Amino acid sequence: MLKAVNKAIKDLKGSYAISVISPLFPKKIVVAKKDSPLVIGKGEGENFIASDIPAILNFTNTFYFLDEMEMAEIDANKVTFYNINLKQIDKPLKSIEWDAVASEKQGYADFMLKEIYEQPKAIRETIGSKFNSENDINLDIDLDFTKFNKIYIVACGTAMHAGLATKYSFEHFCKINTEVDVASEFRYRDPLVNDKTICIFISQSGETADTIAALKLAKEKGAKTIAIVNVIDSSITRVADYTLYTHAGPEIAVASTKAYTAQVTLLSILSAYIAEKLNIKEVADELKELKKDIAELPQKVEETLKVADQIKDFSQKVFDEKDIFFIGRGTDYTVSMEGSLKLKEISYIHSEGYQAGELKHGPIALIEDNVTVIGVATVPGIISKTVSNLEEVQTRGAKILLVTNDSIPESEYKNIKDNEKNTIVITPTTSSYLSPVLSVIPLQILAYNIAKAKSLDVDKPRNLAKSVTVE
Ligand code: G6P
Repeated sequence: MLKAVNKAIKDLKGSYAISVISPLFPKKIVVAKKDSPLVIGKGEGENFIASDIPAILNFTNTFYFLDEMEMAEIDANKVTFYNINLKQIDKPLKSIEWDAVASEKQGYADFMLKEIYEQPKAIRETIGSKFNSENDINLDIDLDFTKFNKIYIVACGTAMHAGLATKYSFEHFCKINTEVDVASEFRYRDPLVNDKTICIFISQSGETADTIAALKLAKEKGAKTIAIVNVIDSSITRVADYTLYTHAGPEIAVASTKAYTAQVTLLSILSAYIAEKLNIKEVADELKELKKDIAELPQKVEETLKVADQIKDFSQKVFDEKDIFFIGRGTDYTVSMEGSLKLKEISYIHSEGYQAGELKHGPIALIEDNVTVIGVATVPGIISKTVSNLEEVQTRGAKILLVTNDSIPESEYKNIKDNEKNTIVITPTTSSYLSPVLSVIPLQILAYNIAKAKSLDVDKPRNLAKSVTVE
């Protein structure tokens, strides 16, 4: 069977991860892979195959990883590895620190809810692995950052939104032009990337096909590549020049929550690290503040989770809606995008995340009596602008959920607060570069409660997959 599969895969084109069984050899499985992920979990008198680690964590935490064009022959007690020429090869057995309990619901109704509540821990562990007790950052990236004139952040879905949220931080603190792109676009155009570019790839699973392809393209063009990944030893980590891990633990729910906030935290740490290496005097004091704010995030996330009851009440009012709009400016806009995505993914309500200033260029035409508009306004200096956009939709009959923070005087949003149709949610205050970590939480809880109110399966929404290992 091994020889037959070997002969067959030589004729295959494209990417694959296959397992083959035959009635002639009922105790064996032969597996092979190219470009698609495949992991082999080692058990006691049993072995497992899957496309990623979390799928089989309940059974084992020791794994073998196949490289491109490799094969394995598996039975209950033994795994034997071969290269494409059927020469036997050795593969190291790796232990993954995640345990089975981490991938159970532990009393929560759903994985998504559990993962929302795990955010303080996920962020604490992500910071803890990179900061020492003096808040010094060490990421072990031996690049001379003065040699680069551009940062590209590339990812898909929620991971891309983490990139959008932190573009502001890279540009402000590192003074390097930073672009954010979705991997499926980046890989099919001719992006201006060369040896003066740092490309950062973000992926919870480390297996997203488009992100891996974009990473390979950036490497071919001579860029230095850094991967921000949650799943240990996943495919992306084996291609990137440097890997930084978020320590969010296994994320099982399809809609990403704790991975996003851990990604924003880690990207912010990376921006501070690069800025420190560049020694830019004009931001030195602000950088100290940023690091202090990063260190305080876990505690503030904990406090933010207390908005849950208020959001649950609001969800009861809006779960039947057909459309919901999210608006904000700056980093608040990027949170609006993520809030809108969460809602679409699990509640199947049509929603748009929009720059508040762009409302008047189109979406305001859709605002009519009782439409729901969610405004995120936490960035000092531009809050009054977003509030004034919210007043415009209020005049047209919209009901509003405003997410703001406790440093903003109520007088700034008095007209919104005075209208009894509206709800105001207040989070703790942090740097506006980090505020997505806090302001996204009410929006995650909102999407969750709306989906529950509609009796939907929040962990496994229709048509979506946790790891998108195909184009
Ligand atoms: C899928 C998931 C999303 C995720 C995206 C990127 O669409 O449903 O939650 O944000 O893939 O996945 P990655 O593993 O690369 O972060």
